[in-house]
This record gives sequence, structure tokens and C-alpha cells, in this order.
Amino acid sequence: KRKAFVDNLLSKMTLDEKIGQLNLPTSGDFTTGQAQSSDIGKKVEQGLVGGLFNIKGADKIKAVQKVAVEKSRLKIPLIFGMDVIHGYETTFPIPLGLAASWDMDLVQQSARIAAKEASSDGINWTFSPMVDISREPRWGRVSEGSGEDPYLGSEIAKNMVYGYQGKDLSLGNTILACVKHFALYGGAEAGRDYNTVDMSHVRMFNEYFPPYKAAVDAGVASVMASFNEVDGVPATGNKWLQTDVLRKMWGFKGFVVTDYTGINEMMDHGMGDLQQVSALALKAGIDMDMVGEGFLKTLKKSLEEGKVTQADIDTATKRILEAKYDLGLFDDPYRYGDAKLAAKEVYNMENRNVARNVAAQSMVLMKNENQVLPLTKSGTVAVIGPLVNNSLNMPGTWSVAAKHANAVSLMKGLQDNLGKEVKFISAKGANIDYDAKLEEIYAAHGKNTDRDSRSKEVLLKEAVDVANKADVIVLAIGESAEMSGESSSRTEITIPQSQVDLLNELKKTGKPIAMVLFTGRPLALTNVKDAPDSILNVWFAGSEAGNAISDVLFGKVNPSGKLPMTFPRSLGQVPIYYNAKNTGRPLSQDKVDKCVYERFRSNYMDECNTPLYPFGYGLSYTKFNYSDIAVSNQNPKGNQTIQASVTVTNSGNYDGAEVVQLYIRDLVGSITRPVKELKGFQKVFLKKGESKKVTFDITPENLKFYNGELKYDWEPGEFEIMIGTNSDEVKRSKINWNK
Ligand code: IFM
Repeated sequence: KRKAFVDNLLSKMTLDEKIGQLNLPTSGDFTTGQAQSSDIGKKVEQGLVGGLFNIKGADKIKAVQKVAVEKSRLKIPLIFGMDVIHGYETTFPIPLGLAASWDMDLVQQSARIAAKEASSDGINWTFSPMVDISREPRWGRVSEGSGEDPYLGSEIAKNMVYGYQGKDLSLGNTILACVKHFALYGGAEAGRDYNTVDMSHVRMFNEYFPPYKAAVDAGVASVMASFNEVDGVPATGNKWLQTDVLRKMWGFKGFVVTDYTGINEMMDHGMGDLQQVSALALKAGIDMDMVGEGFLKTLKKSLEEGKVTQADIDTATKRILEAKYDLGLFDDPYRYGDAKLAAKEVYNMENRNVARNVAAQSMVLMKNENQVLPLTKSGTVAVIGPLVNNSLNMPGTWSVAAKHANAVSLMKGLQDNLGKEVKFISAKGANIDYDAKLEEIYAAHGKNTDRDSRSKEVLLKEAVDVANKADVIVLAIGESAEMSGESSSRTEITIPQSQVDLLNELKKTGKPIAMVLFTGRPLALTNVKDAPDSILNVWFAGSEAGNAISDVLFGKVNPSGKLPMTFPRSLGQVPIYYNAKNTGRPLSQDKVDKCVYERFRSNYMDECNTPLYPFGYGLSYTKFNYSDIAVSNQNPKGNQTIQASVTVTNSGNYDGAEVVQLYIRDLVGSITRPVKELKGFQKVFLKKGESKKVTFDITPENLKFYNGELKYDWEPGEFEIMIGTNSDEVKRSKINWNK
């Protein structure tokens, strides 16, 4: 039915109308890139627009749709896109934080809610999930992804797609997902955004591609090409990537959109003039041109000159029409967006309650000495730090639809929830950074800075005075929201000195310090980790941040988040990741553990090999003990399934959840294999004193990898099975698996 409809429509279209479907201008309600589009209204009327993005509001969207379906010759409806990355107006934690929940039901639920809110307000296409694997904390966009691990990243990619798209795209409350940025964007050299990427195919396929493929396998409707080059060809013009891998190997059936001016940027990459790069993109497999109008301006000429074919243009046009068909837009172009519905759906209490829970689940307890947490619900608490009273920063980067001023600040959360039992007093203590210019850049050019003009000494003194009146200090320090995100690369991954000085000054008061860390990336916390009694990493937790932080600090929620990305000791260790290779000169485990340097071994003279906090790490207010691993069969053969289990006991004083992690090492391979790879995880809830047996099924599927010929298969031999509380603290067992 769809084919007949689309073929019929295509047969009526002029060349200009076809090329028009491939054009995606920005309306300019938000700024997510440098160029702006012009004459949108006129172009919509002429049938020269396929979709529009960065436009917000059901009525506004309806008005544009009306022009498309009443004034354009063929009345083809538009699709409306937006960066609904971690929620719409109800914002959830930044994706890196969401990943730290390791809770796939919540991940899916957050996407579902985002889709419901966005669709009620007229949006039917989100540029999410962002699944770029990265081992580069300098790169600001790690905040938008799921961290360093291909397995965890794949699980999240799949669940996000299910959440956005649901079972049926035409329901009106489901939206097209767009997996991005295809591909390898997270591999930018030196973590500088948009920088060159260069890596082996074996690494691409084993370590960076899996989450994109998982999204494709889950039925993602669209893909966004990345800005970077792959094998020396920009991804936007890379046929091997966009056609051979994506369509031929993986069977992707949807459409591919460029990133913002991705086609035009190929001129700067040195690939030719606008006509050349536009033809290159179309030939590579790009279907839709975001903002740059390269297709609009040059494809006709390229067709006349034989540089592209009519079939190339028709194929791309069909893919856009198919997506519109799947959304049900040809039945009802106004299916998405209804101001009355939006008033009920968007930012409602039900959604906000879910966001509060998701936010609490994303928080990672990184240190808790002297049982400072959970805090007691009495006495006086000094709440100090540059972000304490700041709601604008709470939603975090890439929250374009959020109403930032409505987000719950830390102070508000504490007051609202515990103001009757606890006396909260506060002080700013420091600005985000001593350097005002830098702080301005960090705050997306002044948008959400509330810089205090008083001197550093005055700010510190006020903080110390406030601290001296309290029983305990809650010190909220770290990054501001826009220190991570797009175009927010840093060469230092430490907390700015202004805030480190604040911490050290407060330490002198002798009061217990519960540090609340705001961050959009792994930070090197070596210079701050000793001073506070506890460190709770809250990322940027979304619109309910303050409520959720208060829930965790005071023990209403026992933290269970685990790091989706390694926290290094220092920048010099970067890239540092848990699934590394052993090398030919590894340091003995004993020396790694004791941080002992050995000459002619793979290590540093001035730093340990271990990170500060490993992948998968996160504490709880309670304590979990792991039994040894029991394996159902130590010598499996062929396609058998075996079970590996541990018994986990909650031996502490609180009920709590634990993410039990399964890692496997392939001890001998035809290519070198990582020292461990995550292959499964289960989040289990254990009452105080309770024990549970946690069992993982293992099949040869878990042992497969892309070999030197890029064949996906497993190789028989010895494997180490590891189960534990993080990638470093594991129980171990060996098996021998034959074909
Ligand atoms: O979706 C984004 C992308 O991640 C970065 N460039 C702009 C796009 C659209 O806003």
C-alpha cells in the first residue's frame, strides 16, 4: 500500500518538488548551528521544503503545515524535527547521566514521555538517540551519549528507539527517532569537536559501530551523518559508510539526514565546490540536506550534467515520502500537535514525577566516608556553591525545549522537601571560574551565568561564615551546564580553581562536607577527592534536579547509579577505558594494583595505570557482597547456553539496588582481544539482609567479534568469566568453549 501510494505521488512530482522534499531548513526558534535558513514560508508554498526543525509550539507548527497542505501544488505535508535529546519540556538527566542508571525500563520510559510531550506540541521527529561511543572526556559531547561501552550503548540505543517510536509510528504520540552521528563522531582527535577521526576497521566494527547497528536493528527510522571524516572521506560523502555498511550490511531502510550544513562543510574538508559536494552526498546515500541548501541549489544542474541520476534523486525522495507515510501524515497532516492536548501532556506532574525518579536513579555515589550520607533530617545544613540557587543550569546541555527557569534548583529542592525539619542556609562561595570571559563562554555566551561581582575573598568569607553556623556542609561544585555539549571541548578536565579553593577553604572549618558534583563529562578529581567526606555525582539531572538530589542526599532514594565512562586520575591518562588491550608488555596485576612503576613495561613513571573511578563504579548506602561464580558447564560445546551465577547479599543497613555486571575475556584470538568486555548486566533490588542469586545466560553470541576479515564470529578456546560490582572489582572463573 505504501509503495503504491509513494510511487503514485512520485510520478506526479516535478524535479524541483522532488529536490524540495530533500531540503530541511531551520526555523530559527533555537540556534543549533551557525547558518540560518531564508524565505522558508515562500519555499514551503513552492513545495521546496521537506521538513522544518527548531520550531516550537503546536499552533505555530500547524500554521506552517497549513501552508504546505493548502498552498503547495501537491499538498505534501512537512515533517517537524527537533533536538528532543533528554526530554522535551520535562527534562530527564543528560544522556550520560541517564546511562548511569543502567535501567533500561527507565531509559525507554523517558523516551516515551519525551515523544508524548513533543508530539502533542507538533513535533514528529527527534534527532536522538546520540550513540557516539567516546573515550574522550575532553570532548564536550560525551554528555549527550551513553559513554564508552558498546554493549551498554547498544542496549540504550535500542531502548531509546523503542521509546520514541513505539510499536506504531502513525499513532500520533510516537515520533521518528534519528540515530546519530553516523559515524565515529566520538573519536575526534584530542577531543576537539569536529576534529579528524582515524581508526582501524576492526576497532570501528567491534567498539564504535555496535550502538548504531543496535538502533538500526531496533527499526530506527532515520540516521544523521556525522561531521567528521572516516577513512579520509567526510561521513556525509562517504558511500562506504552510508550505503555499504548502513544499508547493504545492516539492512537500514529509512532515510539519512545530514547534520547541520554537513554538505557545505565538505567544501572546507577539501572535497570540492558546493555542486561537487552535494552530488557526492547524494551519491553516498544522503537523503535530506539540513540547512545548507546544497541539494536545492545544485542537484538540478548535476542531473543535467550527468553527475547524479534521476534514480538517485527519486530514491532519496521516496525515502522521505515513506517516512511521512509511516507517520500517517498523508491521512492527517495535523495528526501531531494540538494546543489543548499539549497543555495536558507537556510538563505535567505525572511526567515530572517520573523525571524525578529517573534523575535520582542516575546519580552516582563516588565516595562516602564516615557515613556522612544519607544526611540526618535535623540541624543546620550549609548549602554552598555556585550552582546552589541556579535553576537555569539544571536541565543540562541540549535541552532546547526546556523551560529552564522552571527547573528545580538544589536549594529549592532541599527547602521544599525538608525545609520543615532542617534549617538550610546558603552562600555562593565562588563563581564557576575565576576568569569572567571563560565563564561567559561556558554559559553559552551569557545565557545562564549569574556571575557574582564580589571579590573572591568576600565570596569565600561569606561561605566560611555560613559553614561555621552549620552542622554539615553540602558543597555543590563542578561544571556549569554548557561546559559540556556541542562545541564545548576542554583541555583541562578538572573542576575550575575558584571552586577548588572554595572546597579547601571550607575544609578548614572541620565540618563534614558532602560534595555534590555537577558535570557533563568524566572529570579528573584527584585534586579534590580527599577533602570531602562524600561525593555524589548528579550530572545535570533535568527539570527535577533539586528534588531528586534532595531525595538522594537525605536517603529517600538509595543511590544505585554506575559510571558509564571511566573517570581518569589525570588528563595524561586519556584515553583510558576499561575494555583496553593487554599489550605485549603489560604491567603485572599486582603492580597495577599497588601503582608500582616498572621499566620497559606499559605504564607511566609519574602516574598509576588505574583510573580514579573505573567504568561501572558506583557505591550505595548499603553494602553488597558477592559470592564466587558458579558456572553450569565449564566445558561447553558448540551452540550451547551456559549459566554463570553469583549470589549477591545486601549486608548493610539499607534496602538498595545493585547493578550486577558480567564481563567476558577471550583469552586467545586471531586478533588481540580486550582484557574484558561487558556482556550483560542486571539491576536487582535487595532488601536489607536479603540475598539473591543472579544468573546470566551465556551463548556463543556473547563471544562473537569482528575478526581481521571483518567476519562476525566466535573462536573456540578459553574464556574468563567475570561478575562484579564494577569493571574492576570482579569475581573470576574460567571456561573452555569448543566448536
Ligand atoms: O541534532 C543536532 C546535531 O546533534 C548537532 N548539529 C545540529 C543538529 C540539529 O540541531
